[in-house]
Amino acid sequence: MLLTINGIKHEVNAEAGASLLSVLRDDLDITGSKYGCGEGACGACTVLVDGSAIRSCITPVSLVAGKEITTVEGLEKNGMLHPVQEAFLRSDTFQCTYCASGMIMSSVSLLMKNPKPTDADIVTAMNGNICRCGTYPRIIKAIKIAAESQNK
Ligand code: FES
Ligand code: FES
Repeated sequence: MLLTINGIKHEVNAEAGASLLSVLRDDLDITGSKYGCGEGACGACTVLVDGSAIRSCITPVSLVAGKEITTVEGLEKNGMLHPVQEAFLRSDTFQCTYCASGMIMSSVSLLMKNPKPTDADIVTAMNGNICRCGTYPRIIKAIKIAAESQNK
């Protein structure tokens, strides 16, 4: 099947029921998306499909063939980090960084749908992304910085 990932087409020979995450990591060596719980409950594996955040660990790869898949590797453009990546970096948000790519992808999706989120909007949108290091206050701050920079 043909997958479009970060604007590049990949022909993959995977079982229809294989998870998108396993195809990304194991077949294509695109490893920014992380395996946390493997059951849709932690958000570490979050990627965008046609602009919406999905959990790639529970998404059969056959469902995303022909759609635009974006991983954290695809956010940077022309050597420039995405404003969300920049905001997380500048805020020194993460500790171990295991949750980082999922947090960033969920944040990008949130800001595409809601460019000026309130704190409550952010908490609701990020509810399914778990940070075992408890960096939540800095995550909220970084998303607000990213929103401000995108709205300039
Ligand atoms: S690894 Fe996919 S939600 Fe936890
Ligand atoms: S920074 Fe360690 S899990 Fe989030």
